[in-house]
Amino acid sequence: LVIIVDFGGQYAQLIARRVRESRVYCEIVPYDEALERIKKANPKGIIFSGGPNSVYDERAPKIDKEIFELNIPILGICYGDQLIAESLGGKVDRAEVREYGNTLINFDLSSMLFKGLQEKAICWMSHTDQIVKLPEGFRVTASSENCPIAAMEDEKRKIFGLQFHPEVHHTQFGREIINNFLFNICNLSGSWTISSFVDDKIKEIKERIGDKRAICALSGGVDSSVAAVLVHRAIGDNLTCIFVDHGLLRLNEAEEVYRTFKEKFNMNLIMVNAKDRFLERLKGVSDPERKRKIIGEEFIRVFEEEANKIKGAEFLVQGTIYPDVVESGTKTSATIKSHHNVGGLPEDLKFELVEPLRELFKDEVREVGRQLGIPEDLISRQPFPGPGLAIRVLGEVTEDKLNILRQADFIFREEIKKAGLHRDIWQYFAVLPDIKSVGVMGDERTYAYTIALRAVESVDGMTSDWFRIPYEVLARVSSRIVNEVKGVNRVVYDITSKPPATIEWE
Ligand code: XMP
Repeated sequence: LVIIVDFGGQYAQLIARRVRESRVYCEIVPYDEALERIKKANPKGIIFSGGPNSVYDERAPKIDKEIFELNIPILGICYGDQLIAESLGGKVDRAEVREYGNTLINFDLSSMLFKGLQEKAICWMSHTDQIVKLPEGFRVTASSENCPIAAMEDEKRKIFGLQFHPEVHHTQFGREIINNFLFNICNLSGSWTISSFVDDKIKEIKERIGDKRAICALSGGVDSSVAAVLVHRAIGDNLTCIFVDHGLLRLNEAEEVYRTFKEKFNMNLIMVNAKDRFLERLKGVSDPERKRKIIGEEFIRVFEEEANKIKGAEFLVQGTIYPDVVESGTKTSATIKSHHNVGGLPEDLKFELVEPLRELFKDEVREVGRQLGIPEDLISRQPFPGPGLAIRVLGEVTEDKLNILRQADFIFREEIKKAGLHRDIWQYFAVLPDIKSVGVMGDERTYAYTIALRAVESVDGMTSDWFRIPYEVLARVSSRIVNEVKGVNRVVYDITSKPPATIEWE
């Protein structure tokens, strides 16, 4: 195990990905819980992430110095590097020349961290501050033209610091540096695999739930499906899956869920038709966060009602995954959207939560699903948000608007699949913005809705770029939608990346 200490921004995530790509299990912890977590978990290595602050700011995140006495190897990156210097008696100051982007670095190859590298390499720098005085016991192991201390180390205490970012793709030998830390300095073996994760989780769930009963919030999406099958493996028929049809699903979705889980996996499945309840509560509501909150609450209420019918259900299984946790706002990153399976839970929740995928990235969740024998078309299914079409019908949600959106979305998905693009596009869907515009059909003036198409490529939903769909495909989709869907006279394509936009429109 490696613990990555998060000092803010989104730096820690990328480091975590790299570490796991090297088949070492790691977890990210906020800086102010780090010491406690580390003492409990006894990891073989610690990595301090970058962060947006200056260490000499009064309010900048600090770390308990006891962490340096634990005899666990530490690698500090950027802010983490500066924090090591500051904490151990060195000095950090504003750099005369701010370095940003690709920078040539000279390495001292006698450092264990740089074993097997070349003497010079291009590395990604992004800093306004830098270390100007080494702490005692440290030596310089890399430098650039404007940054004399681009890396430092105290080999005896196994404390290492890098001013540049080895986790970024632009850094040549970044992977080698991380691997040197993991394998040569921390003596990790790189044997963590998804199948060991699956085995461990099944065991852990068995121990935790025992022969008590659990219910699962099955949505039919990848995350909750994988979570459900994983828990089903552990506790069998003591798991009851509840599928709430909130009326905000895509065309034919409920039927597909029934076929997969009831008929194929033979799991306990209760289908609840709660369409009217959700629509009633959403009446007149147009604020996206309000919608999420309402849907999240109503979801749980419906579960509670169903759960009360199942004697002794104490646990609630959810398919929360790591990006959900982060984007709902941890201590160190701002709230962007409150994803309903995290932020929107009511306080009076009666169940204990079981979230077996909480530490995983999307591609890892898919791999878990494959290991569990879930069919590929479900595994590679595009993500679909919990609040469903409610956040794709902008403004107030009505049955009419939902019907229009469902049909348009179905056509879009059908054409993408026909064109063979469905494997390449991470997420693709239609949106119904709350605008009507003027058009002409036959000799008639029309005044009808616009449909927006969204298709993005992404690795984990944290960032994305719009997908370059061939014009002919877009043309076909557009012409089919305006011809086949009553109430639509215009189709537009969204060409914004994330950031600055988000993938969903709400
Ligand atoms: P954004 O719009 O934040 O979306 O760029 C990133 C990913 O998260 C999904 N998403 C949600 N999933 N509840 C969910 O379960 C939500 O409220 C929610 N909002 C966005 C979105 O579809 C994309 O995959």
